[in-house]
Amino acid sequence: MPAIAYKNDRLFVEDVDVAALAKEIGTPFYAYSTSAISKAYENLVAAIAHPRVKIHYAVKANSNIAVIKVLSRAGAGMDIVSGGELKRCLKAGVKAADIIFSGVGKTEEEIGFALKKDIGQFNIESLPEMEILARLAQGMKRRAKVALRINPGIDAGGHAKISTGKEEDKFGINWDQVENAYACVSEIPALEAVGLTTHIGSQITETAPFQNAAARLEDMVKRLRARDLSVQRVSLGGGLGISYRGEKIPVAEFGRLVRGFAERLDCEVELEPGRHLVGEAGILVTKVLYVKRAAAKNFLVVDAAMNDLIRPTLYEAHHHIQPVTRPQDNALETYDVVGPVCETGDYFAKDRQLPITQANDLIALLCAGAYGASMSSTYNSRALCPEILILGRKSAVIRPRLTIEQQLSWENIPNWL
Ligand code: LLP
Repeated sequence: MPAIAYKNDRLFVEDVDVAALAKEIGTPFYAYSTSAISKAYENLVAAIAHPRVKIHYAVKANSNIAVIKVLSRAGAGMDIVSGGELKRCLKAGVKAADIIFSGVGKTEEEIGFALKKDIGQFNIESLPEMEILARLAQGMKRRAKVALRINPGIDAGGHAKISTGKEEDKFGINWDQVENAYACVSEIPALEAVGLTTHIGSQITETAPFQNAAARLEDMVKRLRARDLSVQRVSLGGGLGISYRGEKIPVAEFGRLVRGFAERLDCEVELEPGRHLVGEAGILVTKVLYVKRAAAKNFLVVDAAMNDLIRPTLYEAHHHIQPVTRPQDNALETYDVVGPVCETGDYFAKDRQLPITQANDLIALLCAGAYGASMSSTYNSRALCPEILILGRKSAVIRPRLTIEQQLSWENIPNWL
């Protein structure tokens, strides 16, 4: 039985009735299944089945400290991109040694803090960044483990805003500069060159782009080893997709690919999946405020908005929409599902066929566990959406609704006004 499914025509997350939860919490809110998160992790580990492959969860996908804790307890390390995410991981009890710091623009302050905590690895994206890390590590008498992120020059397909592996993207060190940069890191006493990383994109639903990235990495590992440079770790990054529209995600094939890669290279292989571990485990529950029948369209105006889930408008992303109470008849109607924010871009779906819907009905947007709450904001001075974590019959508010009163308490009017 999937973790998010109807039981007697009522939508449940594990053993919690979503409509009952909505009554208690109010709408909108995110709800996550703990079991679905752990299972996604365990299935990936089982598909890879190799002791030298280590999964680091990309915290940005869903950075709630309770979610980090679920994955950390399941055995995952963490992949972070800011000092803020580092603090989240430490608060969730993750060991510093299990943390990898990625990102193209780490500040000196963030690097210094990560050095002080002695994290497991820095993924370096440019030579100036390497120089700063070396200087700070030397000053603190630390030896930082460094992997160089290479830009493999690969187009992984998918939406332009989440492509990362092409030469014109800002990420990674250009292929031609990698050998020299690696040799350079290897000569700096405060740095230990441990390996290479790459990340080619997100929501990748076939294995070919990973195969291409693996081949590029393997080529570079050989070149480095031929120069007597030691390469102990190689990361294929994140990017494995989820089933937003019923796509089949080739997890078994991906697992075989990664396993084969680890065998051939005879080194540790790291992965940094985000979406794949949490995406399908979450829903966004929202209430229909109005059914507006206009000349050209029927609109469902709901109480969630682009500030709660920005993916549809930012990436033209598709989220399946399901009524929280399954309707008794099969009649469908075509709607645009829109939020209250004053922007035309504030929509969740366009021309979507849905069961006939009335004001006050609850609907759920599926596959909202990744890049939903973590990208949410308070635009239009809306309350920040709460997050609920569910395990069996248990549910807990892991982030309460951040009210407008709380937001106002952050701000002040200078006394010279
Ligand atoms: N590693 C690095 C270096 C990354 O930049 C990312 C994501 C990941 C791992 C995790 O990727 P994943 O496994 O989740 O695909 N907000 C967009 C996705 C942006 C991904 C950014 N980087 C969305 O909602 O689709």
